[in-house]
Amino acid sequence: MSVQTTTKSRMAGAREVIARCEALAKFSEDTNSLRRTFLSPPMHNCHAAVYSWLKSAGVSVRIDAAGNLRGFYPGADPKSPRMLIGSHLDTVPNAGKYDGMLGVVLAIALLEELDGTRLPFGIEVVGFSEEEGVRFGVPFIGSRALVGRIDPDLLQRRDYNGISVREAIQQFGLDDKQLGAATLDGNVLGYLEFHIEQGPVLEKLERQLGIVEALVGQTRLAVQFFGKTNHAGTTPMEARHDALAGAAEWMVAIESRAKQIPGLVATVGFIEAKPGATNVIPGEVRLSLDVRHRSDEVRMSAVRELTELAEGIAKKRGLLAQWNALLEQASVLLDEFLADQIESAIRLAGCEPHRMTSGAGHDAMILAEQVPSAMVFLRSPGGISHDPAETVLLEDVEKAIDCGVHLLSRLAASQEFLGRKSRA
Ligand code: HGY
Ligand code: MN
Ligand code: MN
Repeated sequence: MSVQTTTKSRMAGAREVIARCEALAKFSEDTNSLRRTFLSPPMHNCHAAVYSWLKSAGVSVRIDAAGNLRGFYPGADPKSPRMLIGSHLDTVPNAGKYDGMLGVVLAIALLEELDGTRLPFGIEVVGFSEEEGVRFGVPFIGSRALVGRIDPDLLQRRDYNGISVREAIQQFGLDDKQLGAATLDGNVLGYLEFHIEQGPVLEKLERQLGIVEALVGQTRLAVQFFGKTNHAGTTPMEARHDALAGAAEWMVAIESRAKQIPGLVATVGFIEAKPGATNVIPGEVRLSLDVRHRSDEVRMSAVRELTELAEGIAKKRGLLAQWNALLEQASVLLDEFLADQIESAIRLAGCEPHRMTSGAGHDAMILAEQVPSAMVFLRSPGGISHDPAETVLLEDVEKAIDCGVHLLSRLAASQEFLGRKSRA
């Protein structure tokens, strides 16, 4: 079945995708950079824009109790199962315009390509409310709602201003008692996410599109070093218990150890010293640690090693080191059948595909717990992401739309796909 699509040129569709990502980038908590965290006020503006694009594509739209935007485009039979296509609408601070938003806007572009054609399955466009984990320190709140993993502990987590997840939901105008209604029913055939690669691989290989076979596992820790505040001018060096100097020694040790373990990445992305005055020896330091590797065993043993290093440094310096896990996310294999279909669709779009592992986490790793999930990467010029310089190439977006239309055609003609039952 080759899906009848609009005569509008793919290039015009690609231009529209980029223009829409630019438009969404205007909705920020900050004046001179993009930061749109979980259920922050600018998320209302973001929802309104996406809502307007979906409405013109004839899609019914709702916001679920976790703040996910959910747009449903029925199949030929309104009761037929559906395919989810989407990504996240929240961002990191000082973000680029495409991480997350591109996947939602590309999903809308595919519906516009269908131009009213109905498939043997429905399509649900999902704009997840929270993937980055910025506001509450834990990621994937939006996608966890779809797989029923919003637990009381998570609802009680508080942000920097002491607002809980539950209160944030209520303040956004949503009803936290309706979180159960956000979970997926059993009528889902799969999940597809288009996303920028956020790394250098596709560009180095001169490939436009990549097929994600697996996503590395990740551990995120909140770590604290406790020492002793004292006067910076009168305390001799040998009499100090400087929490920041201890944390700094640990950070250098993390970097050198991580460089020795092939395929491991370890990052301290956040550090805060208290009381934070130039003339006071810091008595307390809070910092984050993010450790990732394709093998869960290697990752867990590296985390053990790095926390033992923290304890050793603390003991030597008369400090106390403490930590708690904010995230323990196992590595995930994506659906082989869908990856094969994507590979054929990429070839049909005239591109040479590349199969790869994602070093970044994505909502697909949460959806994969319940539904067969797949990801298509678009090349990241300069390998840059989580930065305003993050971008995509117009011709790659055009190829992604082409690939998406070919993929929908292949799935619409596949008995294996249509006969699937999701694990939801
Ligand atoms: O941190 C990540 O891997 C993703 O960008 N949320
Ligand atoms: Mn990101
Ligand atoms: Mn992302």
